[in-house]
Amino acid sequence: MDHLTHVTHPLVQHKLSIMREVGTSTAVFRQLLREISQLLAYEITRELPMETKRIETPLMPMDAPTLSGRKLALVSILRAGNGLLDGILELVPSARVGFVGLYRDEETLEPVQYYFKVPDHMDERLVIAVDPMLATGNSSVAAIDLLKSSGAKDIRFLCLLAAPEGIARMKDAHPDVPIVTAAVDERLNEQGYIVPGLGDAGDRMFGTK
Ligand code: URA
Repeated sequence: MDHLTHVTHPLVQHKLSIMREVGTSTAVFRQLLREISQLLAYEITRELPMETKRIETPLMPMDAPTLSGRKLALVSILRAGNGLLDGILELVPSARVGFVGLYRDEETLEPVQYYFKVPDHMDERLVIAVDPMLATGNSSVAAIDLLKSSGAKDIRFLCLLAAPEGIARMKDAHPDVPIVTAAVDERLNEQGYIVPGLGDAGDRMFGTK
């Protein structure tokens, strides 16, 4: 896969525009995120390895294509990553699921791990890390560092919105991790928000402030 895939499909772009609007309700925001997550997952899993399996149709035997290898691992970067999980799990119900929790140390401003739980055999799985917003890239880079420490070798990153700064930081730290996103926005503002963006993705999907 290319390092960056920008999914410009009209359905994705239309749904994203509604999500960006300040007046969109929590319920609609969450539902659209679920729908977009499936369209992005469709794109990120396009080149999954396949094998054939001998099956019987009602008419005759055939060699039918199926996914090969270990179940993929979906890893949510807490907490906003959870908004992408359910939709992708509907599409890939057999996926294993992991979680990475990071907070920012107020003094050093470095991401600190507070939770980390991932499936076994990470080295044999396609690992899809999910976080709606790729902003500075600090937490994404730290999460990918942790996944690589757990043995993961084939990692992809799925997000909704990306800032050019975050893409550059990821490319620098993890050039082997392809990114799939619905949009690349203009820049980060002084507070680290993506602009024009959609605000705080976690707050908008969970109805917090
Ligand atoms: N995280 C968010 O939720 N929104 C941004 O704009 C940047 C980071």
